[in-house]
Parts: sequence; structure tokens; C-alpha cells
Amino acid sequence: MREGHQGTGPGAITPDGCAVELYARLPVGEEPEIVAAAIPAGAHLLELGSGVGRITHPLLDRGFRVTAVDESQQMLDRVTGARTVCSPIESLDLGETFAAVLLASFLVHAGDAAVRRALLATCRRHLAKGGVLVIQREGEDYHTRLPRERVDPGGFTLRILSSEPVGDGVHSVRAEYEFPDATWSQTFRARPLTREQFESALAEEGLAVDRYLTEDRIWVRVVAAD
Ligand SMILES: C[S@@+](CC[C@H](N)C(=O)[O-])C[C@H]1O[C@@H](n2cnc3c(N)ncnc32)[C@H](O)[C@@H]1O
Repeated sequence: MREGHQGTGPGAITPDGCAVELYARLPVGEEPEIVAAAIPAGAHLLELGSGVGRITHPLLDRGFRVTAVDESQQMLDRVTGARTVCSPIESLDLGETFAAVLLASFLVHAGDAAVRRALLATCRRHLAKGGVLVIQREGEDYHTRLPRERVDPGGFTLRILSSEPVGDGVHSVRAEYEFPDATWSQTFRARPLTREQFESALAEEGLAVDRYLTEDRIWVRVVAAD
């Protein structure tokens, strides 16, 4: 397990505390629409932290080619129709570049700043000239509007129970997904980043905001700085 990450509930749990069976059940939301509108039609997309393919599959349906990367082979075993690569994102070096790269699921908020730098360096290393990186970052109130709960029409309740500072600007977050027949929990480390801190983190790795894709600035289109 990654330090400070933990998961409970039925089935396999990934090193960052995600449950494979949970992600196999979770419905997809607006993510594929947002990504598809931000990248060139039919592009070959490098999706970092793909999980079971919740976003991958709708993007394949929209005519994109996808290389899906995850450090959990059990997650990747559920991905169909895409090339899969089992690897930590930090050390990934495929020796090729892509017209589009996706770093979703708030991975840019890695608690360990060295991990965050390595994640963004991987994005930069795999970005083709003129390529587009799409990042999903946390909303501004993610660590303050607590506890919060959302009853999903898909038949489950998501609760963000707590976010406790654990030092050096890092928080320990506890989330719970309750279905009628099963409950999963995840505890993970996250580093809140203001807009300025996020943009500085991009700049450290030779990346820059092209534009914020949503009003809440959660989804961002990023390009190489040079
Ligand atoms: C919260 S899940 C989201 C999966 C998918 N993006 C989705 O929205 O359904 C995060 C996934 O990223 C993977 N992951 C997290 N950190 C990773 C890292 N540093 N390297 C490789 N995979 C990672 C986990 O194994 C997990 O499958």
C-alpha cells in the first residue's frame, strides 16, 4: 500500500486504497464528454490511472484510441478494447508520445510532492508536440465542506467523512461508498492546491494552463510551456 492509503470492502484493493469491485460498479458521469471536447477527434489518448476503464470505455465508443495505465493489474483486467500497461505512473516511460494525455481522479493532488512532480513529469514526457493534457483537480471546497453526502441515482451514497491535516500541507481524507449490499471505504492522502499552487506545480514540469474547461476550474486543458 502507498503510505497513508487504505481501503476496506469486498474484493481487491489497490495500493492507493481503491476497490476494484467498487469502480466496476460506479457509473460514469460527465468525464468522457469533457475530455472528448478538449482533445483532437480520434486522438490516441494516454490515460494515467485508468482503473477498470470507467472513462476509457466511453472514450473508445467515441472513436478515440486509448493506452490505459494503472499500477493495479486487477483494475486493468477489467479494461476492454484498449492497450493496457501495468506500471506506477511515476516511472512510466513508453518511449513514445501522444496527442492527448489524461490525468484525472485528482491524482495531481498526491500528498507527496515528489510523487506529484513525477506524475506531471510523466505527463510532459509523453506529450507530443502540440499535444494536450487534461487534468482533473479538486474543487475549492473539497477539504472544508465536511462532512458531505451525495445520494447517487445509481443507487449508492457517497460520503466524504473527514479531511484531517497530517502535516506539511497534506490531508488524510476518508470517503465511504454505501450500496444496499456492500460498503467500501477509502482513506487517502491529498495535498490541497490553490489555483496559484497548481499552476506553479505545472510550471515546475514545463507545463502551463491553456484554459480551464469548467466554471469550477476542476477540469483543465494543459499544454507544454514552450
Ligand atoms: C480513484 S481510481 C479512478 C480510476 C479511473 N480514473 C476512474 O475515474 O474510474 C484511481 C486509479 O488510479 C490508480 N493509481 C493511483 N495512483 C497511481 C499511480 N501513481 N500509478 C499508477 N496508478 C495509480 C489506482 O490503482 C486506481 O485504479
